[in-house]
Amino acid sequence: MSQPDASFETLLVHLKENRGFDFTGYKRSSLTRRVNRRMAHVGISNYAEYLDYLEVHAEEFTALFNTILINVTGFFRDAEAWDYLRAEILPSVLAAKAPDEVIRVWSAGCASGEEAYTLAMSLADALGVEEFRQRVKVYATDVDEEGLTHARHATYDERRVRAVPAPLLERYFDQVGGRFAFHKDLRRSVIFGRNDLVQDAPISKIDLLACRNVLMYFNAETQSRVLSRFHFALAPAGVMFLGKAEMLLSHTKLFHPIDLKRRVFRKVASPVPPNGGFLTEAPPAHARPPIGGLDLLRHAALLASPLAQVVVTVDGLIALCNRQAEDLFGVSSRDVGRPFSDVALSYRPVELRRYIEQTHVERRTFRVTDIEYIRGVETSYLDVQISPLTYNDAGLLGVILSFHDVSESRRLRDELQQANRQLETAYEELQSTNEELETTNEELQSTVEELETTNEELQSTNEELETMNEELQSTNDELQAINDELRDRTGDLNQAKHFLETILTGLRAGVAVLDGDMRVLVWNRHAEDLWGLRQEETVGQHFLNLDIGLPTEQLCPLIRRTLAGDPGPHEMLLSAVNRRGRPIQVRVAGSPLDGVEGTASGAILLMEMEQDGGQFDGSLLVPLGKQDGQHTPETAGADDTTTTG
Ligand SMILES: C[S@@+](CC[C@H](N)C(=O)[O-])C[C@H]1O[C@@H](n2cnc3c(N)ncnc32)[C@H](O)[C@@H]1O
Repeated sequence: MSQPDASFETLLVHLKENRGFDFTGYKRSSLTRRVNRRMAHVGISNYAEYLDYLEVHAEEFTALFNTILINVTGFFRDAEAWDYLRAEILPSVLAAKAPDEVIRVWSAGCASGEEAYTLAMSLADALGVEEFRQRVKVYATDVDEEGLTHARHATYDERRVRAVPAPLLERYFDQVGGRFAFHKDLRRSVIFGRNDLVQDAPISKIDLLACRNVLMYFNAETQSRVLSRFHFALAPAGVMFLGKAEMLLSHTKLFHPIDLKRRVFRKVASPVPPNGGFLTEAPPAHARPPIGGLDLLRHAALLASPLAQVVVTVDGLIALCNRQAEDLFGVSSRDVGRPFSDVALSYRPVELRRYIEQTHVERRTFRVTDIEYIRGVETSYLDVQISPLTYNDAGLLGVILSFHDVSESRRLRDELQQANRQLETAYEELQSTNEELETTNEELQSTVEELETTNEELQSTNEELETMNEELQSTNDELQAINDELRDRTGDLNQAKHFLETILTGLRAGVAVLDGDMRVLVWNRHAEDLWGLRQEETVGQHFLNLDIGLPTEQLCPLIRRTLAGDPGPHEMLLSAVNRRGRPIQVRVAGSPLDGVEGTASGAILLMEMEQDGGQFDGSLLVPLGKQDGQHTPETAGADDTTTTG
């Protein structure tokens, strides 16, 4: 993945110029991580290519924007800091206001609103709901419109409100369909709006400003800019509440810590006043016993002082100076008695004459700090203290100028500030990484939830499948039972068929059973023997179309009568030719095959060949047991086609 480079900066400038969003003031470490993450998502590995992608895919900006703006938040986030704010800070903020004065609060970078509603609950708790509604305005701003939409909704799920103390949850939320909605009457006092802390003008006259876990995403320069806006935004005694990574160690001129650990600061109304701690106490008025040789002693003490010191009389003449003053500024005992204004020290390295005059007037100590003093190649830094010299009621005797060399302490202070800045940056970095981890954690959590949902869906599908399976099983059982029954019936049928075939084979006559259309249904073994056609060749064929030696057309009237349901008996004696081509006499008897309600569904034809001597097989008329040719037909005659009955 690309390192931050010129193309990364080009990308930021593009976003600023084309999308109106300025990320150039954001810390590069976290920013590049977030952009890289987005690029990995769309499968791009360098910034220039990603810029092209952004130009073509307008919707990608929203995704990038949402990835960069980490919106981890929560009710009473860092509970200990909120406890402190509620117990120690809010009472003093409220006490500083007149009873009917409006209290203005600003949640800057409010994400999805939890911080703003936490402020509202805390204030409502301190003031009572009615007074809260009349006096408090909570302005809640963010640059992320999506977050603001969520915040305006004021509805959160169970997991989100877990951090709200139970009594507050009960007092300030309504439960609606498993979700928690912030009370409408308090909600009205919370005003949401879009405000870009880097580019937009701040809200003014704010008594309490919460800007938590936002500054840490900005670089030092942008932080300074935003902080001077906050300084402007706050009322004179306004209080600022930052996130736990935001220590403000390098902005002590604008804000004083009230509690550094909990990140609560008060606005500093004006630059630090001159230090009054150097005022020279006049000796007590009551007289002490005189001590001899004091002048000499004082003189010696002055000379021995480690500080460079010069004493100037009320008339402006140099009265005393010590060795350090000579070493540092070249003012020596030779200059004693000269007007101080004649020596270069009076105006270099700092204009002192003005301070001396002011000391005469105000009779108090002045201090001028951090004066750069260049001597040749050496630069040092000095603090100068100008103190009045008085003695009892004698009035002003003169002025003593003391020069402290603070180069070393300044160097140490700079180093400390630098270390603080680094510490601050490292801490903020850690915190933002932490927030990223929290986001990733939330993403994981939502993936787990998604998996859980999918799992539940699968379970329910599984249950449905099991039910279907059971239904199929029971249908299967029913089919099995039907099948068994069918098999039984088929067995019965086969048995019946076999029985019928046995009977048909047992008959000595040929049998042909025809359906209503004279198609052959049954053709027994004797019929095969008689006419030389096998069962397979006849079944399904029209009887009159059979190519056999029987003149079937002559049988037509007999068959028709039989099919008409006439019970008969119908008989004919016909001359025919058997399968061997020998002429034979055949007697044919027809009887109707019973159909519904007395109709015939077909015809049974028995065909019996005349034996030598005019005898027939007799099977037509005689039951099986009586066969063997003892029977004589009622009607006989080779050419006779009469029917009886
Ligand atoms: C980590 S959240 C902090 C939310 C809340 N203050 C808290 O501490 O729980 C950071 C928020 O700062 C917002 N933010 C980032 N840059 C901003 C800017 N330039 N102006 C205003 N809000 C910004 C983001 O949209 C996000 O909602």
